[in-house]
Amino acid sequence: MAEFTRQRGKRQEDSGLGNVLDLLLANARLVLGVTGAAVLAIATLAVKRVRPAQPPSGLGGHAPQNWLAAPRLSVSRKPTRLSLVCSAPPETPRVESSPPHCLTLQEKLLSHYSSWLTVPETQASVALQLARSICTQLQNFLRSKCPELPFGSLFLSGPLLDGLGVLAADHIHLMLPVVLDAALWSLIPGEDTVVRNPQYWLIKRTDLEYFPRGRSPWDRFMVGRYLSSNALNETLHKMLVASINWPAIGSLLGSVIHPVVASQELKLEVKYDQIKLSITLFPVVEMEDKVLLAAPPEGLVENLWLESFYRAEVSKVKELDAGDSGVRQCCLRILNGVCKSHPALHKLSGSPLTHVVLHLSAASLDWAEESLADRFQQLLEELVGYLEKGVLPSYFNPKINLFCELLEEEIDEMGFMLYRAVSEPELLLKEK
Ligand SMILES: *[C@@H]1O[C@H](CO)[C@@H](O)[C@H](O)[C@H]1NC(C)=O
Repeated sequence: MAEFTRQRGKRQEDSGLGNVLDLLLANARLVLGVTGAAVLAIATLAVKRVRPAQPPSGLGGHAPQNWLAAPRLSVSRKPTRLSLVCSAPPETPRVESSPPHCLTLQEKLLSHYSSWLTVPETQASVALQLARSICTQLQNFLRSKCPELPFGSLFLSGPLLDGLGVLAADHIHLMLPVVLDAALWSLIPGEDTVVRNPQYWLIKRTDLEYFPRGRSPWDRFMVGRYLSSNALNETLHKMLVASINWPAIGSLLGSVIHPVVASQELKLEVKYDQIKLSITLFPVVEMEDKVLLAAPPEGLVENLWLESFYRAEVSKVKELDAGDSGVRQCCLRILNGVCKSHPALHKLSGSPLTHVVLHLSAASLDWAEESLADRFQQLLEELVGYLEKGVLPSYFNPKINLFCELLEEEIDEMGFMLYRAVSEPELLLKEK
C-alpha cells in the first residue's frame, strides 16, 4: 500500500491524470477485479477538486457515489463471549501477542482493544491529578494577575475523562471559560461573513453607543467590533510562556513543566516520573447554547471562534449506548486508536469518527456486543463513502462539512487505505 500510494503520488506530479488513472486501475484490478475497477475508473474522473466548506444543498453536479461502495464481506457471525473489556478496561494492559489465525474479526478487535487501548489505572489517575493541580495553579495565577477579567472555573476535558477516544494518559484539555455579558455581546454566524463557513462564529460587541468601550472587561480584546480570539490567544500565550513561574510550580508538584513556545496552541508539556503529559489550554465561550473555542483557522481571517460539539458528541454516544447496551464507545475507541496511530488516517480520529457513528446510529441497527465486528466493518464502509464525496456532514448541523479542511491528496489516501481495509480490516489492526 505504501508503495501504491507513493507511486501514485509521484506519478500525479510527473505526468498528470491519465497516468494516475492507469496506475490506479492497474492496482484496482488486483484488488477489485475488472468490474470494480471499471466503476472506480468512472468515479476517479469525477472526484471533486475542491472540497466545499459546506455540503452542497442540491443534488446537481455530484460525483457518482458508488465507486467505493465495496461489497460487504460476510463477517463471521459466530458470537464471541469473551466477557467484554469494552465497558471497563483492565487495570494493566496485556502484553501484545499476535493473535493466532483462527480468530474471528470480532476476537481480533477485542484483542487489539485490550492490548493497545487501555491505560494502566495508576498512570491515568496520576495524569489527572497532575492536570488538576496545574489547573488550580493556573486559576490562582489568573485570579491574582488579572482580577478584572471574569474567567470562569477552569475544567478538564478530553478522551481520558470522557472515554471516547484513545484512552491514552498523554493528553488533556484544559478549558478556560470566558464569561461574557449577554447584553453586550452577540453571535454572528460565520456563514453570513466572508469566511462562509458554518463551523465558525464571530462574537460582536453590541450597543457600543449606549455602553461605550470599557463597559465590558473583555473590550480590550476587541478588534473592529468583534471579540478577537487571536488577541486573547496572544495575551494568554504571553502569560503562559513569560509570566508564569513554571519551574516553581513544577517543583511544587514534583514535576517538570514547560510551556511550548512555538506551538499554535496554548500548550504545556509536563513530565512526572515516566509520565509525559501534554496539556492544551482552550479559551471557551458559552453563549446562546453554543460552545465556542478560541481556535481560529490558520492564516487569513482573524477573530473567529470555532463551534465545538465535543460535549454533545460525547453525551449523545453515551446516551445511545446506555439505551441499548451498545458498543459504540468501544468501537470508537478501537477506530480512534487505529486512526490516531496511522500516518495516513490520523486526521480522522476524534470528532469525525464520532459523527460517523452517530449517523450510523440513526439507522436502527444492532449495536450489541456480538455485532462489534459487523458495525466496525460497516463504519469503515461508511467512512469510505463520505471520503468519496469529500463531505462528512456534522450530525448536529448538516451544513457543516467536517472534511472541509482536508486536502484532496489526504482524502484520496485515506479513501484507498480504508477501501482496502473494508475487505481486510486486519490491515488496520497490524499498524502501530
Ligand atoms: C497564538 O499566539 C501565539 C503567539 O503570538 C502564536 O504563535 C500562535 O500561532 C497563536 N495561535 C493561534 C491559533 O492563532
